Formats: sequence, C-alpha cells, structure tokens
Amino acid sequence: MTHFLDIHTTPTADLRAIIDDARRMKDARAGLPKGTPDTEQPLANHMVALIFEKPSTRTRVSFDVGVRQMGGQTMVLSGADMQLGHGETIADTARVLSRYVDMIMIRTFEEATLHEMAEHATVPVINGLTNRTHPCQIMADIMTFEEHRGPIKGRKVVWSGDGNNVFASFAHAAKQFDFDLVFSGPPPLDPERALDGLYTIERDPQKAVQGADLVVTDTWVSMHDPQSARERRHNQLRGYQVTETLMGQANKDALFMHCLPAHRDDEVTSAVMDGPHSVIFDEAENRLHAQKAVMRYCLK
Ligand code: CP
Ligand code: NVA
Repeated sequence: MTHFLDIHTTPTADLRAIIDDARRMKDARAGLPKGTPDTEQPLANHMVALIFEKPSTRTRVSFDVGVRQMGGQTMVLSGADMQLGHGETIADTARVLSRYVDMIMIRTFEEATLHEMAEHATVPVINGLTNRTHPCQIMADIMTFEEHRGPIKGRKVVWSGDGNNVFASFAHAAKQFDFDLVFSGPPPLDPERALDGLYTIERDPQKAVQGADLVVTDTWVSMHDPQSARERRHNQLRGYQVTETLMGQANKDALFMHCLPAHRDDEVTSAVMDGPHSVIFDEAENRLHAQKAVMRYCLK
C-alpha cells in the first residue's frame, strides 16, 4: 500500500519521480480544454473519495478535475455531513470507505487523524492538509520553482511569516530536495521543534532575504488557529509582510510564492502578488498536475 502522507516520509527518489511525472503530464495536455481526458487513463474505473473537514477551493477542485482527467470518478464529502463528524471512529470510517472507493484524500485537523485513516484503510490515503503539514502544496511549489528557474537544489528559499503547516512541509522538502531554507518570523510563531526538517532562523526579514531565489509567505491566521488570536498575530507579524521593498533585497530574479488563499495587504502586498516576481497562479495550477502524479504514484 502506497500512501502519500508527508514529504519527509516519502523516499527522495519517489518525490523526484513524482515531480518529473507531473511535468510530463502537464506538457502532454498543454492547451487542451480542461475536461479533455488524458491519453493515459490510470484511474479508469476508479472511485476516489475527497473528504474535507475544513474549507477548500484549490485542493477540492484540483483533485476533482485531476481524477476526472485520468478517467476516474470522485465523491466530495464534507466531514461535518459524515458520521465521522458525529462520533463514528476514524478507523471504522477508513474500513468502510475502503469497501467503496479505491483511494481517499483527506483534509483534516489533527495529523493523528490522517495517520489513523492510513493505518486502517486498505486503499491509498493522501494528505490534503492537516494542522501540521501540507505536502501536496509543496510538491506543486517545487514543480513551479523548477519550471521557472531550474533545479531547486542548492538554491535559497526564505519564508517570511508564521511557522505554520505549509512552512513545515517546506522544511521537510528542504531536507529531501537539498535547498537552503531560512525561516524569518517572531519567536512565538516559530515552527514546532519536533519538525523533522531542515532550516535556519534569521529574525530580521531584510537580512533573511539577501540572496534569496524564492520568497514565500502564507496567511497569518490559519484555519486551525483561533480567530481570537487574529489581532495578536497581526501585531506580531506586521514586520514580516512581503512588500516590494523586501523583494527588492532578494536576488533580482527571485520568485514570490503563496499557497493561497491570500489576505491581500496583510501578509503580502497586492503589488507583490500581481508583480513581476509572483508565480502564485502557476503554483495554483500546478496543484492539479502534481496531485495527478501523486495519485498515479499511490496506485502503481
Ligand atoms: N492552497 C490550498 O490548499 O488552498 P485551498 O485551501 O483552497 O484548498
Ligand atoms: N496555513 C493555511 C494554508 C491554507 C491552504 C491554513 O492551514 O489555513
């Protein structure tokens, strides 16, 4: 059984093969209407359950479209409408769903829920974001960087903002793809210590971005953060906003990424989002291609 649960627990060679496969599949369907089936149909006759315990636009639509392009069918399920949200155990849900579908993608809160689902499912399980990680996003981000700038190995990536779930998967990727990752944020919002990734810390964002090939940020308040923390986080993170001035300190050809959804003019200015460094919509598109490659990998 091949699950896709995290970047640090997937063999390095497999991660590289997934990115290469995503690139090949993207090229193969360039310019075609989105509903055109791929020439290869690895998901023909396959059913895929997409479970969401949190909101989503990109993950929901890109998985749904990706499955269909590869010949499969999807079922989009809201956690709150399932018995899962009313006391049925994750283990029993996993066992039951495995009798109906060939693959499960889940977006959930606790990392433990994802792992329990994977442990008890007899079909592949894919991580569509937890409070701690977001591996599919970072596969798309690596793909996007390399599409624009070539190999990410040895390049400098700077994260300015909250040490959240998206950062954690970047830290896992830094170890696997061998790039330098710098975290720049205030100490209370540092990444969790137990993170099995690789990064250094530079508190001053102006210093951090010197020589950066890629600058990344994300929302200051994630879906799992209490809304009551909003004002405090804004005060803590104000100095880490990605502005044109900050981008001006990075390398001339530095890229800017954000997994989206963004809060324009909070964590990043609209000028940067819509400016010449930004590849945010390529990133969003590449979720589709990267996840198609992840699904093929899980079924191989
Ligand atoms: N980036 C991302 O996962 O977006 P959604 O929350 O819209 O799925
Ligand atoms: N850090 C954000 C990412 C959303 C795609 C969150 O978890 O809400």
